[in-house]
Amino acid sequence: MENNFDVIVIGGGPGGYVCAIRAAQLGLKTACIESRDTLGGTCLNVGCIPSKSLLNLSDSFHKAQKNFNSQGIEFANLKLNLDKMMSNKNKSVQVLTKGIEFLFKKNNVTYIKGKGVLFSDHDVVVYQAEKKTSFKAKNIVIATGSVPTSLPGIEIDEKNIISSTGALELKEVPKKFVVIGGGYIGLEMGSVWSRLGSEVTVLEYLDHITPGMDNEISSEFLKILTKQGIKFKLNSQVTSASNKDNQVEINFTNIQSSKQENILADKVLVAVGRKPYTEGLNLTKIGIKKDAKGKIEVNHKLQTSINNVYAIGDVIKGPMLAHKAEEEGIAVAEIIAGQAGHVNYDIIPGVIYTSPEVAAVGKTEEQLKQENISYKVGKFPFLANSRAKVNNETDGFVKILADSKTDRVLGVHMIGPHTGDMIAEMALAMEFSASAEDIARTCHAHPTHTEAVKEAALAVGKRAIHF
Ligand code: NAI
Repeated sequence: MENNFDVIVIGGGPGGYVCAIRAAQLGLKTACIESRDTLGGTCLNVGCIPSKSLLNLSDSFHKAQKNFNSQGIEFANLKLNLDKMMSNKNKSVQVLTKGIEFLFKKNNVTYIKGKGVLFSDHDVVVYQAEKKTSFKAKNIVIATGSVPTSLPGIEIDEKNIISSTGALELKEVPKKFVVIGGGYIGLEMGSVWSRLGSEVTVLEYLDHITPGMDNEISSEFLKILTKQGIKFKLNSQVTSASNKDNQVEINFTNIQSSKQENILADKVLVAVGRKPYTEGLNLTKIGIKKDAKGKIEVNHKLQTSINNVYAIGDVIKGPMLAHKAEEEGIAVAEIIAGQAGHVNYDIIPGVIYTSPEVAAVGKTEEQLKQENISYKVGKFPFLANSRAKVNNETDGFVKILADSKTDRVLGVHMIGPHTGDMIAEMALAMEFSASAEDIARTCHAHPTHTEAVKEAALAVGKRAIHF
């Protein structure tokens, strides 16, 4: 195998593999090192993709169970076959991870299996089983991602005390499923197991779920999930979780009343965040700086403290999102090739794939207040959207925040059906510095959910038609 490259990317997740493909497209001799058996990183193997498969299938099951009968679709003997559901999910993962191998071949990216370790600013050694191979690169990109964190006193054993990885692999539906952390992972996986029949309780430290989200959306989200049967215990600081007779006892303190409580669960999902994964890379030894949270420090060109070593994705600052990592991967490849790669960190959409979906881009109302920016608000409920109405999916609303002087859109927040797809239009509008008026005057097809966006934009100027 050729051992000299223009670019070596360490990590084959969405950041790393996209970076490698873009670098190769730009004519750079590129290799990507991956220690997992398959490419795709957390996202494809044990994150975004398998969770979306289970979210989609559990949603179908739930709708068939709860809604179909009253909507004229009657059948007997509806039952869950969890084994089949899991193998369907595994097949999707397999197809997609293999797809990246195909893309590597197509683009002439060398795929190196094993664990990459940095030995200098140009030297990478790859360990695979007993084998050790040395490579040289003009440029190195660290894209090694993140791993779940836990709390002091709680050891994730992936049996009864599980991370998101374990929550995607359960062999049977737990009777009592407790989730520690009301963030992205907790609410998506809590929804899956609640729909499949578990009694789900979410323990959240704060007095609201999904920290960082626009408050109004977060409160609506809490209401909707509660209506769906998920129980929430807010202001709850979990202090320990320990195995007890094939169950887990979780102790927590109400931070307002200081009352100590406990709850028993068959499975406990620890979803209190993730931390950068840089173990064994040798970073400190070669002089790459990390911040107090263990994230690799980079400048605006995504260069680490060593000029020709770059870092992208979950190992650096910013939201731990696959699409943010992809943008950074493309930017770095273009920067290395002498182009003007760039990421607009102000316009990175975020989506929670629950039912209904929650999606946002730009600033929240709280951020605008904090930054003393004066703004106008336009809101439109899905209850008044004809498509949502005929589909019996009327929960939620669209909220557009626009600058009160210039009318420029500063943030869009939505909860409702298909909002995860609808947010793309808003990201595009914001990239083009659209005003609410621009969106309001754009013809949206009828009847679609996207009309709720147009109406919310009209509502910014106090002239919504259907509400
Ligand atoms: P998160 O940061 O979204 O949520 C963690 C939650 O745990 C917070 O609400 C926090 O207040 C709470 N918490 C912390 N300590 C606690 C304690 N002692 N007791 C009770 N609650 C406590 O982290 P999560 O859900 O683990 O997700 C990790 C990362 O993965 C996120 O950065 C997210 O961006 C990403 N992700 C994105 C998805 C998507 O784009 N749809 C899906 C899944 C994950």
